[in-house]
Amino acid sequence: MAYDLDAFVSDCRAILERDGGPAGREEVRVRLERLLANPEFVRRYCSDDAPSGLNLLYEDKNLGFQVLAHINDKARVSPPHDHGASWAIYGQASKYTDMTEWERVDDARDRSHAKLEPVKKYRLMPGQAGIYQDGKIHSIDYPDKARFVRVTGTNLDKIDRVRFDLKTGEVHQMTPQQAT
Ligand SMILES: [Fe+2]
Repeated sequence: MAYDLDAFVSDCRAILERDGGPAGREEVRVRLERLLANPEFVRRYCSDDAPSGLNLLYEDKNLGFQVLAHINDKARVSPPHDHGASWAIYGQASKYTDMTEWERVDDARDRSHAKLEPVKKYRLMPGQAGIYQDGKIHSIDYPDKARFVRVTGTNLDKIDRVRFDLKTGEVHQMTPQQAT
């Protein structure tokens, strides 16, 4: 039987109940790649038939994790941002996403300004998933009709997160879903 959303969610629950830390999340990342290898899942939730925008596919009432389909119509470049006290896994469904991972190279004592340097750049292709663990800063850049499935440890709209202005070095609090 094909690996579907229900099977994925039940695996996520079992894994994250046992280990909510980085190793457990990495297991979730591998499962997300398996889910994206199911063409029926991609067709149903990430094709032109899916409503555009951000679609909540699942939210776990006990553990708090969410599975979201990002059905993007237009290309976008996000600023570097973190995921607050949570984490995020991005699994590509169509087109691609160029990922950049950043590191703060200042001493992080100034809460309003930061200096960032890129440490890793790569392209996520359909079926591939990338993981952004605690405190990791990344930015995303994708073309029209790029779609991905994102798993987060909690509803990111409800926690404090920051984004970084590369030109000025300013650190800004993020508004809901501003930079995914
Ligand atoms: Fe992100």
